[in-house]
Amino acid sequence: MKDYHIAVVGATGAVGQELLRVLERRNFPVASLRPISSARSAGKSVGFRDESIPVQKLNEHSFEKIDIAFFSAGGEISRKYVPIACQADAIVIDNSSVFRMDAHVPLVIPEINAEDVRLHRGLIANPNCTTAITLMALFPLHRAFSVLRIFAASYQAVSGSGTRAIDELSQQIKNWMEDDQFCSRRPLDDTTRAKLSSHGHASQSEATTVYPHPIAFNLLPHVDSFLENGYTKEEMKMQSEARKIMHLPQFRASVTCVRVPVYRAHSVAVSAEFEKPISLERAREVLAKAPGLELVDEPLSNRYPMPLSVSEKDNCQVGRVRVDCAFENGLAFWVSGDQLLKGAALNAVQIAELL
Ligand code: A2P
Repeated sequence: MKDYHIAVVGATGAVGQELLRVLERRNFPVASLRPISSARSAGKSVGFRDESIPVQKLNEHSFEKIDIAFFSAGGEISRKYVPIACQADAIVIDNSSVFRMDAHVPLVIPEINAEDVRLHRGLIANPNCTTAITLMALFPLHRAFSVLRIFAASYQAVSGSGTRAIDELSQQIKNWMEDDQFCSRRPLDDTTRAKLSSHGHASQSEATTVYPHPIAFNLLPHVDSFLENGYTKEEMKMQSEARKIMHLPQFRASVTCVRVPVYRAHSVAVSAEFEKPISLERAREVLAKAPGLELVDEPLSNRYPMPLSVSEKDNCQVGRVRVDCAFENGLAFWVSGDQLLKGAALNAVQIAELL
């Protein structure tokens, strides 16, 4: 086996940093590593194996002599530089949503549609994080019972919006905790409420930059931008990307995506309707055997998946499995997974391993 020259675009970001750790942890055969970022991080270094490697500023020559380029620096960077990387003969694994639905671009979760990688023409897309985590549980059930549609709500961690969102949550929590009235739990008067919703010690513009409202002690039913049909882009990705990954053009998904004040790991509450009658016993058997998934389902002992239990873990977890009482052939379940890993960096490295 040869060793590969690897570039990571967005190496200083939340997903990029995780990518370096996954490449290292899984002993990916790396001959050389080129961490790439914007001018903001020029002069910084990243640690890889026992080396400290200077970060390079992205430019048109960044992909010369590169075998595999991982992109995780946002859609605009992918749109401009993925074609340049392909032109330089690098194989690209792109974490943005820009090329995911293109017919000639495989969209791959290795546990589900590994064989689609063979169709690539130099570019493979990594799926949306919430979709990937949901499908880790839904697909094995689909193979047993043939899924028709789902209704779901997601609970998405702030690290999904990058390092600035992580800092924003921390700063807001700190500001709230420094406020005496909040901590003493006295009822809030209007002046204090107004002050707190602008985070006490910082002005609204200083403390709320990534999200349109405070995320600390709050829930935002708003992930990604709104579409004409009232859903957000993130919500519709669940249907479009799941159709492509599962090769199931009739699949339907109605989803509400919610940003929650959790640092890491997304969770999804799913009600799924199937063609075939559901056997709870068989469903649990299927989930227990599914690759990359653990069944954690002993509610009477308070055992169910949670963000804190799946953070920094490769496997997703599924629990709260029950026959859905509102569908004819329905199953309700709760799935959690580390969206920086299975939803991004781990899945990308698994794709590279398939290559
Ligand atoms: P930088 O550190 O220079 O800002 P996150 O998702 O955590 O916000 O990280 C985004 C990643 O994408 C970071 O590594 C960031 O680098 C990188 N990035 C953002 N804009 C650009 C750009 N114009 N060119 C190259 N890399 C970029």
